[in-house]
Amino acid sequence: MGQKKVIVTGGMGYIGSHTIVDLIQKGFEVISIDNLSRANPFSAEGIKQITGVTVKNHSVDLCDYEKTKAIISENADAVGIIHFGAYKDVLESVKEPLVYFHNNISSTVNILKCAQEFKIKNFIFSSSCTVYGNIDTLPVLEETPFGKPACPYALTKQIGEKMICDMSRNSDINFVLLRYFNPAGAHESGFIGEYLHTKGNHLVPVITEVAIGIRPELVINGADYPTRDGTGLRDFIHVMDIADAHSLALNSSIEGKFKNKIEIFNLGTGEGITVLEAVRSFEEANNIKLNYKTGPRREGDIVAIYASNEKAKNILGWTPKHTVSDIMKTAWNWQQKMRSIVK
Ligand code: UD1
Repeated sequence: MGQKKVIVTGGMGYIGSHTIVDLIQKGFEVISIDNLSRANPFSAEGIKQITGVTVKNHSVDLCDYEKTKAIISENADAVGIIHFGAYKDVLESVKEPLVYFHNNISSTVNILKCAQEFKIKNFIFSSSCTVYGNIDTLPVLEETPFGKPACPYALTKQIGEKMICDMSRNSDINFVLLRYFNPAGAHESGFIGEYLHTKGNHLVPVITEVAIGIRPELVINGADYPTRDGTGLRDFIHVMDIADAHSLALNSSIEGKFKNKIEIFNLGTGEGITVLEAVRSFEEANNIKLNYKTGPRREGDIVAIYASNEKAKNILGWTPKHTVSDIMKTAWNWQQKMRSIVK
């Protein structure tokens, strides 16, 4: 039998590219759909360097139903779709909510329609811990109801999940919703990693950009939160652990191992660290002094969140293998390697 084919949307982006590496290494053939609007320009070459495989990317906007349908129709023998393609920046979503509603929701409607029409049996949706909002009881469990969305990005992830729940009532598709906590770090080779566009605000790439001198300093968004040192608290999970969870989830879904038509998993380490602790961890892991100061809270942020990952451990057999120090080392390695090429 030939390789199992999987369609990956957003395959040239951060988590998409790392997951493609993992899928290829686990024997899948991958077809990527990514309009390259937020892609990492090094992804295609990086994937090739690591795996030896040139992945076919269709540069199509998922909001264009006809063009998306044409690609899915050509690849209707795929065993599954992994839908990463989305915008993901909290602050940007507060400033430009309609851009987020249009991009994240229309694309999800279109790809779901295609999955239904071409009877692609397994569908994995990139969700986020952002669906929980501000909660009092930590660690957070999958059963915890949605909270008030703290920003438009959060709302788009809640809507995506809700659309899938409604659709699944009359569908034969097996759905998996993976709620990522804070994915960070890079492939250990340094060939792929998180590429920040000018509007990017994610903590770890901002830290590495300050360290390399592209940004003058890191501003810690708020030091007056009710946490152990006053800064926000998050569950940083290495991107290759996130990638591994996708391959495990896809295989389990294909093999019919799940009891429910929709399975939801938290993907986090199970431990929270504060923003200040993350900064210190970067400094220690790489022996670098970072220029930082504290500033006001960032609009749209929640205070603190970390995962219960027991369900993913028990049902997927998933165990995160990387530490926060690994995250900081690999992120820094990637930043240096990339800048030695771009300048
Ligand atoms: C959010 C989601 C997360 C999702 C990610 C999408 C929530 C709670 N989390 O992450 O599930 O995977 O978007 O990629 O919605 N920070 C600074 N200074 C900076 C940059 C960030 O202090 O220059 C702080 C932020 O205020 C926040 C923390 O670092 O407290 C992490 O921020 P970020 O990396 O942007 O991720 P989230 O917004 O937590």
